[in-house]
Amino acid sequence: MDRSGSKRVLITGGASGLGKAIALKFSSHGHHVAIVDLNDERGQETLDQLKQSGVDAFYQRCDVRKSEDVQSAVAATQKRWGGIDVMINNAGVAAGGPFDWVSSEDWDWVMDINFFGVLRGCQASVPVMKEQGSGHLVNIASMAGLLNPPGMSNYNVSKAAVISLSETLVAELQPWGIGVTCVCPSFFKTNLGESMRSPDKTTSVKLEKLVAGSSDLSADDIAGMIYDAVDSNQFLLMPHEKARLAWDYKRDSLDNHLKAQLKLAQQVKEQAQPAE
Ligand SMILES: NC(=O)c1ccc[n+]([C@@H]2O[C@H](COP(=O)([O-])OP(=O)(O)OC[C@H]3O[C@@H](n4cnc5c(N)ncnc54)[C@H](O)[C@@H]3O)[C@@H](O)[C@H]2O)c1
Repeated sequence: MDRSGSKRVLITGGASGLGKAIALKFSSHGHHVAIVDLNDERGQETLDQLKQSGVDAFYQRCDVRKSEDVQSAVAATQKRWGGIDVMINNAGVAAGGPFDWVSSEDWDWVMDINFFGVLRGCQASVPVMKEQGSGHLVNIASMAGLLNPPGMSNYNVSKAAVISLSETLVAELQPWGIGVTCVCPSFFKTNLGESMRSPDKTTSVKLEKLVAGSSDLSADDIAGMIYDAVDSNQFLLMPHEKARLAWDYKRDSLDNHLKAQLKLAQQVKEQAQPAE
């Protein structure tokens, strides 16, 4: 990718949390930013903030569960700016619960947004980038997709699939001049808890608290790291230091990592309470 000059950036789930922080980061560096989301009110608020930095920006409604919406977002970006340099597949939702409590509908829902939403973003933008001979994909996964904590099977699998797709694409797209960054954060403060779906009240309360109460790194901090990772063409970004240590520990001994999950698994077993 041409790493100089003004880039054309498209962000899914760009109205809130990390997507919004990434949008503001890129616009503060003078890049053109398109945000797409389901939440029109927050989308409009974020757009107003983006415009204050003097760059060209637009908001479009897009449900990443619909291929036609994602294709239309990429087409609108191309039409407005003649191409797309950075496609950020960020839209996502929270889910979890004891494995046998999670319904097929909840599996379908989380996979459709967290994994297939990312896949649709890649499918829509890669042909444009191949044609250009340049571009960069940023896929937002999670440490959950690398560490697979108990009681979050559907969320973990959705994020592990994003990591697998990203790793495949970073290798495959090298000859086309297209880079890929896969981001694996731990908990940080956003509105993610609002989307939480779980058959278990305890899981919902715990995860909502973890997202709402996280103070280690902010969405702005992580957005800054993502900006730098795109700039330096870094593939795997694990923003949280504790999570990097946990990943090293797992790679060192999978058996020890799995044994260390027992305490959390016991909590899932003993504390689960059916949601009303
Ligand atoms: N916050 C955390 O602790 C955390 C940790 C690891 C990974 N992540 C990932 O970061 C990404 C961003 O989440 P966030 O934490 O900023 O949460 P957030 O809820 O603040 O932002 C997510 C945005 O995605 C949008 N969205 C949801 N479903 C959509 C759909 N079908 N189509 C289009 N937009 C949709 C929401 O409206 C929202 O604006 C997600 O992929 C999430 O899984 C978050």
